Amino acid sequence: MSIIIKTAEDIEKMRVVGQLAAEQLRMIASHIKPGVTTNELNDICHEYTINTQDATPAPLNYHGFPKSICTSVNHQVCHGIPSDKKLKNGDIVNIDVTLIKDGYHGDTSKMFFVGEPSILAQRLCRISRECLRIGIEMVKPGIYLGDIGHAIQQHAETNNCSVVREYCGHGIGKGFHEEPQVLHYGSRGTGAILEPGMIFTIEPMLNAGKRQVKLLPDEWTVITKDRSLSAQWEHTILVTDDGHEVLTRLPGDDI
Ligand code: MF3
Ligand code: CO
Ligand code: CO
Repeated sequence: MSIIIKTAEDIEKMRVVGQLAAEQLRMIASHIKPGVTTNELNDICHEYTINTQDATPAPLNYHGFPKSICTSVNHQVCHGIPSDKKLKNGDIVNIDVTLIKDGYHGDTSKMFFVGEPSILAQRLCRISRECLRIGIEMVKPGIYLGDIGHAIQQHAETNNCSVVREYCGHGIGKGFHEEPQVLHYGSRGTGAILEPGMIFTIEPMLNAGKRQVKLLPDEWTVITKDRSLSAQWEHTILVTDDGHEVLTRLPGDDI
């Protein structure tokens, strides 16, 4: 097994699905407010994916996942299953969407505020977003994956946040999760060397408390062991000849 270098045709299709995934996150933003359930958000995304975007929600039935998006609230780290529980003022929620269009995957997630979260919650969301940005800006041919992980870990820990180690970014294309694993911690000069045509996600998960996590009995939802808040941002990124292209970033967006 090795890292798939994408062809020009693959890349064009990854651009298309990447933009669809980003547009879906932009679409759902206005629905996120106190009183809405994560199931309602799931249903809106599901319907939009199929009927408006003529695409397929990749999470649905993926290794048995029961819904079309992941919704991870407050101390939930990732892979939260949409439910009938209502969002309330002060919550932070990660919405993670992955679409399949023409056989290719686009994967992106971001944090949303429900009403007005605490200063601590807002800060955690900002630091985790900065970690994603720092990782993205390093991407170019010749650097090591470990350089990215190191920089992300450095920024998180300098700001008193911890980095989750059990889950990582991943290669993506015709497969949802391809090689390589993109760790959000580590040492410079380790791991794969980036080459033009690689496409992978960077999706750091940061906790306000300790880094340890726990899997709920539903076998999907990951939470922080100490119940501290957790935040995550994700983009799908192409390595170009001289740098990178963020396939899930919309024109004019700053992240
Ligand atoms: N979108 C997630 C990721 O970033 C994976 C979700 S898998 C699911 O890799 F089955 F939980 F949907
Ligand atoms: Co991903
Ligand atoms: Co994702």
